[in-house]
Amino acid sequence: MNTTPPTDCPAWRKLAAHAESWRQVQLAELFAGDPARSTRMIAEAPGLRLDYSRQRAGALTLRLLAQLAVERGFEEWRAALFAGGRLNTTEDRAVTHTALRAGDGAPQDVKSNLERMIFLSNSIREKKQYRRIVNLGTGGSDLGARLLADAFGDGALEVRFVANIDPVELERALAGADPAATLLVVVSKTFSTQETISNATAARRLGYKNLVAVTANPEAAAQFGADDILPMPDSVGGRYSLWSAAGLAGLLAIGGTAFSELLAGAREMDQHFLTEPLESNVPALLALLGVWNVNFLDLRAHAVLPYSHRLRLLPAYLQQLEMESNGKGVDREGRAVGYATCPVVVGAEGTPAQHAFMQLLHQGPQPMAADFIDASVNQALSANAQAQADALAYGTNAGTGGDAGLAPHRRNPGNRPSSILKSRQFTARDLGRLIALYEHKVFTQGVLWNINSFDQWGVELGKEMAQRLL
Ligand code: F6P
Repeated sequence: MNTTPPTDCPAWRKLAAHAESWRQVQLAELFAGDPARSTRMIAEAPGLRLDYSRQRAGALTLRLLAQLAVERGFEEWRAALFAGGRLNTTEDRAVTHTALRAGDGAPQDVKSNLERMIFLSNSIREKKQYRRIVNLGTGGSDLGARLLADAFGDGALEVRFVANIDPVELERALAGADPAATLLVVVSKTFSTQETISNATAARRLGYKNLVAVTANPEAAAQFGADDILPMPDSVGGRYSLWSAAGLAGLLAIGGTAFSELLAGAREMDQHFLTEPLESNVPALLALLGVWNVNFLDLRAHAVLPYSHRLRLLPAYLQQLEMESNGKGVDREGRAVGYATCPVVVGAEGTPAQHAFMQLLHQGPQPMAADFIDASVNQALSANAQAQADALAYGTNAGTGGDAGLAPHRRNPGNRPSSILKSRQFTARDLGRLIALYEHKVFTQGVLWNINSFDQWGVELGKEMAQRLL
């Protein structure tokens, strides 16, 4: 498979030359000269519609980006992903998160693990012996289940989350709880993460004895005294593990039916990503446009703005997914990359973000790209999402001189690219589609940048240093 530097690809060089012709182009002018742009630059995936007409890109840009994907061997890498190939070379591991939601096509062990966790969740939700569930885990052992519970928790159980080593978070999560009616869900792939193990130890010391462990290291969990242990596959990184037992607290919060819908939505997106040609493949398009923005238009930050209160935790989830996966400085051959990789990902729910940090997106001198996720049937939310995207794109017509009469502080430069992802409704199935979409975007960018998106060696040094200091 192709592991040469992307900068050696003919398409990369053509894109660099092509980018020069875009430096002076204004989105406001483009739309004025070609209104059909807004109906043409649309792609559909299951339940989601991507409008990328506000990207600073045209037909030739898209053709060259698609050519880059071909030259990088995108199809071969994608096939390897779905075949469970050993793509995580620095840890010598296969990558199998898509198998977790393969439904009837999943391996037998995946099916039986899923049945087991749904059975456990159903019985806990029905019997009502626990009133509170406390998830102890961090990073990928926290963010996915937390997002799920926050988005679609039905209130059948009180589900809380503790990720921080700061004891305040544990104290708050346990405040007013009855130890006999509380279940601790201790999630740690390694079962050695300092935050998680020290919180679990502290909770046990406080008399919380009901505990289920989720881990890929059952020996360590058994040594800790867990007798109920659900497996987490070794071949699934924490940030890709929501679909496994790592999502147990989320499952407990939303119930088996909604969790199955989540998996079905992800499965649909897998099929779309696997079969759709590049020009209409939504995850691949997002990835290609992201590379265009980062490497050719020099936009080194990216905002994720969900217009849905249910999705208020999505930016934190995507920060881990994108930055822990693709925030890498060496390529698959261990060479220092000579090009930018993952942008800094920021975000928060709209509309509150508009009244907090979006000033910088509109007028700050370091422009960034943005994804607006319009995932609500509420018209006020949709109107705000579109208005923000339009304001970023057109500004106050600076490019055309249309704002000459405005005081400088009232001018918005515009020409700041964004995409809108529109979902007609927003259910657990749509959340599954959306998360899988971003997973595949991240994967595709890893292929384009020639990096391993499945390791995270950079975080180890700080962990070791903290241990030593302690
Ligand atoms: O330190 C980073 C990290 O390893 C993440 O990749 C992971 O999601 C998180 O910590 C938690 O790890 P574990 O599940 O092993 O406790």
